[in-house]
Amino acid sequence: MDSKFNDERYLTFALGKGRLANKTLDILEQIGITCEEMRDKSSRKLIFVNEELKMKFFLAKGPDVPTYVELGSADVGVVGYDTVLEENRNVYEVLDLGFGKCRMCVCGPASAKELLLHHERIRVASKYPNIAKDYFYNKKHQTVDIIKLNGSVELGPLVQLSDVIVDIVETGSTLKENGLEVLEEVCPLSARMIVNPVSMQMEKARIRDLVLRIREYLEKEK
Ligand code: PRP
Repeated sequence: MDSKFNDERYLTFALGKGRLANKTLDILEQIGITCEEMRDKSSRKLIFVNEELKMKFFLAKGPDVPTYVELGSADVGVVGYDTVLEENRNVYEVLDLGFGKCRMCVCGPASAKELLLHHERIRVASKYPNIAKDYFYNKKHQTVDIIKLNGSVELGPLVQLSDVIVDIVETGSTLKENGLEVLEEVCPLSARMIVNPVSMQMEKARIRDLVLRIREYLEKEK
């Protein structure tokens, strides 16, 4: 048997940096999986190990998490559903963790509503070009020009770069402060646990146990 899959094998987690990782560590801690070192903000270390549980953890940029998981560098990943959809990697989505709730929306000035109704060829700015393309082409059957941005996407309509944007809306305050609004909802979002398909087979028992324990904890917390 491949030595990667014996009893001594580490179960490796890739966590999306930031709030998502912190919340995930909180949940893992609640079910008895701890990783003290990882909480130390001053540390520049990249990989953290829990020798007792034979688990490893690393923090990665959100959009890289599905890459690490698909290619087997991590068995398990935690990342926003926005990233799961945008990256469209070959991974299993095993659990909706229920936190990080927000919405993917088409937003713009109220005047852009017309453009959506009449299926006009419009410009759409987004950090999520694949989600935007899928929504307009496959769901709305509307031909659009997609412009990829890397952040502060709300600027798009404000500086006449685009007619609308496809972006995450959480509290709605960024939109409000910039005179924009939600025009259509693409889908609801939250944090998801994803698993490498080979790990799913080879580490079935450990992964199933992990998912069950987290699910039980989340149910209790409801
Ligand atoms: C996200 C998103 C919106 C904002 C939505 O941006 O892209 O801009 O948060 O939150 P709100 O509805 O609560 O105002 P983020 O802060 O991640 O930075 P970015 O604009 O650089 O992507």
